Amino acid sequence: MDKDINILAIETSCDETSAAVVKNGREVLSNIIYTQIETHKLFGGVVPEIAGRQHIMKIDGVVSRAMEESGLSFDDIDAVAVTYGPGLVGALLVGLSHAKALAYALNKPLVPVHHIEGHIAANYIEHKDLKPPFVCMVVSGGHTHLVNIESYSSFKILGRTRDDAAGEAYDKVARVIGLTYPGGPQIDKLSEEGDPFAIKFPRVTLEDGSYDFSFSGLKSAVLNYVNKAKMKNEPINEADIAASFQQAVIEVLTEKSIKACKEYDSKVFALAGGVSANKHLRAAMQAACDENGIRFCVPRPVLCTDNAAMIGCAGYYEFMGGNTADMSLNAYPGLKLGERI
Ligand code: KG4
Ligand code: ZN
Repeated sequence: MDKDINILAIETSCDETSAAVVKNGREVLSNIIYTQIETHKLFGGVVPEIAGRQHIMKIDGVVSRAMEESGLSFDDIDAVAVTYGPGLVGALLVGLSHAKALAYALNKPLVPVHHIEGHIAANYIEHKDLKPPFVCMVVSGGHTHLVNIESYSSFKILGRTRDDAAGEAYDKVARVIGLTYPGGPQIDKLSEEGDPFAIKFPRVTLEDGSYDFSFSGLKSAVLNYVNKAKMKNEPINEADIAASFQQAVIEVLTEKSIKACKEYDSKVFALAGGVSANKHLRAAMQAACDENGIRFCVPRPVLCTDNAAMIGCAGYYEFMGGNTADMSLNAYPGLKLGERI
């Protein structure tokens, strides 16, 4: 039997400090996630400077715990994988510097990983038989991408958001109706008590045939709705607003995803990124896939939001493909999916 390949992975692109050990790409031996949400909640969103400082305080302990829980020693590690973009530059640099120091001290290869590639790879951990090609929708706090996954390391971007990411829209709408950061999980919960068809918010599909997205108009529509009600001293039903906003997002995401599967003749569709933890989105995508004879894949919620296990999985495929970096590797806040630096 071939020797096992163990990847130690580090993720610090936003407000989660995470380290994991992943065996042969898909077996998670440990996945430690320290979330800074409670701190950023006080400010209504992620404060980059604070995120960087918190990563510095936590990274060493998080990596130690990941190693401990994995039951392996540093000798058993074959490579150190790290998110080098996209994300907050000060946050990325903490994980990157730590990974470089480890790789240098242990004399192991350093593997650069794209954060979105990590989100996509979370599906490989969850669905052990999943292989490219397939169509994937990545919906996170910073990105909304519809992608044709051609191979483990080649991606054709079919569409992306032209303004706000889906998660960003969730977080902004949440703030308008008085929910705290991050708003996505709270809208998810509150919308259960609301009527998704109570208020008709716009479904922005853009030009015919476009796979791009736009959520800023929807966000403004919610804002206008709330402001108008306030000006007239009318009560608002937050649960109805949450459910109706969410319905508008889900309809657009679902429609474009199925259309892409049909055009690219994909019998498999995967959902990825923080927003894919959303119960209603998962259910709607499952139903739409079932209706169209498409296999639906989505990771369990803890693998949807930021974590290092997904970076370890993507890092494994990058490593096996020969993608390693030297000590000059930098952080790239605006790194594009599929771009190699
Ligand atoms: O992928 P992620 O953890 O970080 C980025 O790479 O951006 O995504 C975070 C985003 C936030 O906007 C958060 O509100 C959203 O994912 N999110 C959700 C849910 N859980 C997290 N949105 C809707 N429903 C959820 N259950
Ligand atoms: Zn993410």
